[in-house]
Amino acid sequence: MSTPYQPLIWNDGYATGVVEIDEQHMILVHTLNEAGSKLSRDASPELFKQITQDLLSYALYHFDTEEELMQEYGYAEETDEAMNRHLEQHRGFSAKVLAVRESLKSGLPVAADDILNFLNTWLVNHILNTDKRLGAFIIAKRSGW
Ligand SMILES: [Fe+2]
Repeated sequence: MSTPYQPLIWNDGYATGVVEIDEQHMILVHTLNEAGSKLSRDASPELFKQITQDLLSYALYHFDTEEELMQEYGYAEETDEAMNRHLEQHRGFSAKVLAVRESLKSGLPVAADDILNFLNTWLVNHILNTDKRLGAFIIAKRSGW
């Protein structure tokens, strides 16, 4: 029995302080919440396929934004290990969504609520532990420290 999707309520505690990153995070949160409410009305695999496709393309766009900022501000030179871990987490998220899409394409049963709850938790942990570290680094660079 899966737990119904728990919407994620944005709060300032999730802000990294980097405007472009925060705006995209809010869109990701909104996308997940929308997915939860749409799928509660229509749990069809077709809709879930469409949603995971939209989610994946926005997530990839967002990861590109962060990874370009890492390049621009020289994150690798400062903290190679943190950057590699960060990139691995981005790849992990994409791989998870791709695996779900593969299951949907093969007609396997997929528990949408469980997956959305997982992605929601992933996003919160990633923002709080990983993106905030990148955000602090970028803010320091931008203020010329
Ligand atoms: Fe990130």
